Amino acid sequence: MSEAAVITHPGNDTHSSMGSVLIIDDEAAIRESLETLLEMEGYAVESAGSGELGLARIGEHNFDLVLLDLALPDRDGMDLLAEIHAQDPQLSVIMITAYGTVENAVRAMQVGAANFIQKPWDNEKLLADVHAAIARHRAEEENVQLKRALKQRYNFENIVGKSEPMLKIFDLVGQVASSRSTVLLQGESGTGKELIAKAIHLNSPRRDHSFVPVNTGSVPPDLLESTLFGHVKGAFTSAIASKKGLFEVADRGTLFLDEIGTMNLDMQSKILRVLQDRKFMHLGGVHEIQVDVRIIAATNVDLQQQVREGKFREDLFYRLNVITIDLPPLRQRREDIPLLASFFLDRYSKENALALRRITTETLRALMAHSWPGNVRELENVIERAVVLSTEEEIGPDLLPDSIVGRSASFPALQHRRDASLFDIMEDGERRVIIDMLEKCNWNQTDAAERFHVPLSTLNQKIKRLNIEIRRKIKE
Ligand SMILES: Nc1ncnc2c1ncn2[C@@H]1O[C@H](COP(=O)(O)OP(=O)(O)OP(=O)(O)O)[C@@H](O)[C@H]1O
Ligand SMILES: [Mg+2]
Repeated sequence: MSEAAVITHPGNDTHSSMGSVLIIDDEAAIRESLETLLEMEGYAVESAGSGELGLARIGEHNFDLVLLDLALPDRDGMDLLAEIHAQDPQLSVIMITAYGTVENAVRAMQVGAANFIQKPWDNEKLLADVHAAIARHRAEEENVQLKRALKQRYNFENIVGKSEPMLKIFDLVGQVASSRSTVLLQGESGTGKELIAKAIHLNSPRRDHSFVPVNTGSVPPDLLESTLFGHVKGAFTSAIASKKGLFEVADRGTLFLDEIGTMNLDMQSKILRVLQDRKFMHLGGVHEIQVDVRIIAATNVDLQQQVREGKFREDLFYRLNVITIDLPPLRQRREDIPLLASFFLDRYSKENALALRRITTETLRALMAHSWPGNVRELENVIERAVVLSTEEEIGPDLLPDSIVGRSASFPALQHRRDASLFDIMEDGERRVIIDMLEKCNWNQTDAAERFHVPLSTLNQKIKRLNIEIRRKIKE
């Protein structure tokens, strides 16, 4: 049932952009007062005086929400709930219950009701519940439709996005997948470069062969060469046996050269040679080896800038830059945040064997307002953490890190203390900003220094001077 996050956005309902509601209650007075209340808010409302009539209406119209009386004379409310869901499994139903029958309402929620309202109700609360249920219903529908559309076109089960730039990227991936053209993926850390690289591979005729990722930035330069090209026995002191290189492992498949911008110039020229004719030799070898490999490269630095600075070979840049896909940072496609959040809620609820978690409107608002320097990876980590820490289905803003709910974003608490000097206040602010960033980077100091655009040593000096205690990494 409530699979998705609570989302506020205009829907595409034909009756009313607010949504359409069906009231099923045998008491005319109740129907009328609910009708008036909801219509004044802008909802399209219809009513039915019996379960039978209600079911008939559901067959005729596409409602966003049903308000269902638990105690109808003609039908048992629980049976009716089941029948409604047999007709339309996605439809949100809020039960209306009389005082003293809350137990039944809870039972109804266990079998799929979205919520319950007790008579006599509080108008504000009722409207908030109706609003939340409709928003959730629409988000779910949208999710289902998007997933279906993407799955039909390409094999994109684990990628979500509905923003204009992401939809263009999905199209581009579909178009380039079938060729052997080299693809260059550019984007900040955590924007989904590796995910897109895999999608290209999986949608290509090479899908039955290997997708081989290699992080050219993290393998030491002298090891990188033998890793990529392999070596013969005795090629160097520790080469006690011959070994295949990743270019061979990826034969007929795809080689993903990650963080290509950090590769040294010597290695760049060696790679260039392979890109030109797909031939190379093992280290210490004498035979040329021919491979059929598709290259996808990724970078989170501006390669053109690197070229200008003489750090990246221009000819290699042009070889790689046949088809470029730019992955926009999450802050430039905020409309993807609710979808991604609900996608990760689903993933981590399942992974932790928990009932499906959902986020409240307030939580979503905080997520929408955040700048996401760590992009989708940061969002994924935040949701995972919230799911793991949650004790109930609703995830409130208290389960978000301070940096996201803005508890520490506002200027330092110290400024309210009369004895604090300007320097104390500034130091406190500095401490908070650094802690925030470290939290975003899972306490990885190297990443934090990179995002602050300062050398690691500078950051470490600050950490020491400000007495910041380095916490354990939550997750790699
Ligand atoms: N559009 C998306 N839909 C679903 N999950 C996504 C999406 N984009 C990114 N992710 C998830 O976010 C995480 C980071 O993505 P990925 O590793 O592909 O990013 P990256 O750009 O390669 O980052 P880095 O530069 O830090 O290596 C992964 O867990 C990935 O599954
Ligand atoms: Mg990556």
